[in-house]
Amino acid sequence: MKDPRVIVCAGGGGVGKTTTSAALSVALAARGHRTLIVTIDPARRLAGAMGVPITDVVTPVPLPAAHGRLWALMPDPRRSMGTFIDYLFAEEPEAKARMLANKLYIGLADAAAGVHELVAMNLVARAATDGDFDVVVIDTAPSRHAIDFVTYPARLASLLGGRTVAWLAGLAQRSGGATAPRGLLSWGTGHVEHLLARVTGPNLVRDTADLFGDLALVRERFVALTKRASELLLGERVAYALVAAPTAAARDDVLFLAARLVKLGRRPRAVVLNRADTEAAPWVRALREGRGVAPSILEVLDVLDLERRTRADAADGLAVELGATLPWASVVRLPYVEASAPEAIVAALSTELDAHLAALLPAVG
Ligand SMILES: Nc1ncnc2c1ncn2[C@@H]1O[C@H](COP(=O)(O)OP(=O)(O)O)[C@@H](O)[C@H]1O
Ligand SMILES: [Mg+2]
Repeated sequence: MKDPRVIVCAGGGGVGKTTTSAALSVALAARGHRTLIVTIDPARRLAGAMGVPITDVVTPVPLPAAHGRLWALMPDPRRSMGTFIDYLFAEEPEAKARMLANKLYIGLADAAAGVHELVAMNLVARAATDGDFDVVVIDTAPSRHAIDFVTYPARLASLLGGRTVAWLAGLAQRSGGATAPRGLLSWGTGHVEHLLARVTGPNLVRDTADLFGDLALVRERFVALTKRASELLLGERVAYALVAAPTAAARDDVLFLAARLVKLGRRPRAVVLNRADTEAAPWVRALREGRGVAPSILEVLDVLDLERRTRADAADGLAVELGATLPWASVVRLPYVEASAPEAIVAALSTELDAHLAALLPAVG
């Protein structure tokens, strides 16, 4: 079975990443690709509109336009860590119980930045292995650092495979008094532990040691999963799409993220300019053509027109700039949709995106 192709959508906050990712996944499913949409930062209203719950379980999306070929994975940032631990410690129930009671773990589980991304990516790695998908669309969190999460799996895997962890795991045994330290090396180690305990307090040292001791038990499972996540995110079958809106802030975010990706050796394949173009709404045209319309209403229509043109000009300017700065990326323009229901916006954008699937999909077969 071939690995799925992966499209990662990234961009600043509020530019329409989640909406665009959903629309893209509907367009792919409608074209016959078995598609999984993963949102790291699920929008409740959109999940509701797509008829899927926010959970760590892969769920079929019942939208008629998706023809039964679309699934969603929208893990809840507050709950995914627990699910992940359940999987990791499936064969080590006692270690799991110790881990869940570990003060350090409790502190880390919801405090550490990027933990949710890491957990979500491991859920994706499992889904990609079990699910027989053609394409996985990943909607990232709204942050400039959202891209960095692609490197977490590899970094953590090497950390967990490294000497520090072995040492910390050994610390757990020694703090339990299993073996007495011997020799110069052990004396050195004991000395460091003693110092650590003085600086951080004995409980933190013990908690750290216990945590890594228990993690060491499931290291193989963890390393395999994170390696798989790395392959999916940084391998040959991934394409990055940056989402922007025609605003100065979104432009800066896109250029920052593009530079970050280039540094990671993954140039973005496309930039999606969302909310770039607007048709005058039919009621605007009707009002303009009508007779006896009050001058104040016409003034409002002029303001709306001006806003529309300003948006289009900004989008044109940004498209030209992106074409010059990121010449290898295609620019895909999406309209501003005059609707407030999220499913209506997704439906309209998925129709638009149908013509651009080749520009967004990774070039491999
Ligand atoms: N092309 C569009 N036209 C109109 N509204 C849009 C468009 N794209 C997104 N929206 C709306 O903008 C809001 C933010 O979009 P969202 O996809 O949640 O952004 P992000 O995920 O980047 O934070 C949502 O209410 C969404 O329905
Ligand atoms: Mg979002």
